[in-house]
Amino acid sequence: MLEIRHLKTGYGKKLIIDDVSLDLCEGEIVALIGHNGAGKSTILKSIIGVLPKWSGEIVFEGNTLDSRPHQIVRRGISMIPQGSQVFDEMTVQENLEVASFIFKDKKPVRQRFEEVYRQFPLLRERRKQSAGKLSGGEQQMLALGMALIQRPKLLLMDEPSLGLSPAYVKQAFQMIKDLNERYGMSILIVEQKVKEVLKFSNRTYVLRLGKVALTGDAREVLDKGEYKKIFLT
Ligand SMILES: Nc1ncnc2c1ncn2[C@@H]1O[C@H](COP(=O)(O)OP(=O)(O)OP(=O)(O)O)[C@@H](O)[C@H]1O
Ligand SMILES: [Mg+2]
Repeated sequence: MLEIRHLKTGYGKKLIIDDVSLDLCEGEIVALIGHNGAGKSTILKSIIGVLPKWSGEIVFEGNTLDSRPHQIVRRGISMIPQGSQVFDEMTVQENLEVASFIFKDKKPVRQRFEEVYRQFPLLRERRKQSAGKLSGGEQQMLALGMALIQRPKLLLMDEPSLGLSPAYVKQAFQMIKDLNERYGMSILIVEQKVKEVLKFSNRTYVLRLGKVALTGDAREVLDKGEYKKIFLT
């Protein structure tokens, strides 16, 4: 479904991602892990088109992705960025409406609002409040809700557990599994909670200094524990 071929990119003149290739098959959850600053978020930004590629190619469902985020979103890829940026000044409900902007026919999408509120009753209670007044964890829920509205074919998630308390982390991971199992969403997930994410992912890529240091079956990588060395060196 997604093929990244020999991607090179960076900021200004500084090369950050150095010849990264990565595949994701339809229906898979692939975990992208690595130390702070390894380049995980940079790869996601490059896929969604906000950061231009220097060289290499990103192919989605057989066609090359250009660097126009709105076109990429229309092709069925959404991203929940690191720190779940929601629109602070807008209400919870308005945020969900923004998520539905890509659909010409809004009617079927309306039913999904109900589904989001059922999953997260707290969002229903606070639907008329501005999203900026939600806690970090509640904003993550809203960001997940926005993904549920969009139902992309491929969802890019950047550290969805960031800032969540243990109970919410569990809920967020459960929600991610649901998005995959119930709605068939393919997911590329960046996570610092390595053990937890490897338990429910199919495959993983371990990034070190902008290169793929290790890749394989998630469970195997977890059991063998080699990834720990990569984090430490
Ligand atoms: N906007 C930017 N301008 C310049 N350098 C940047 C920018 N964003 C990131 N970098 C640099 O690129 C490198 C990779 O950053 P990136 O955010 O991709 O790392 P990461 O793997 O997501 O790390 P973390 O786990 O801390 O989120 C780092 O050295 C970082 O300092
Ligand atoms: Mg990051």
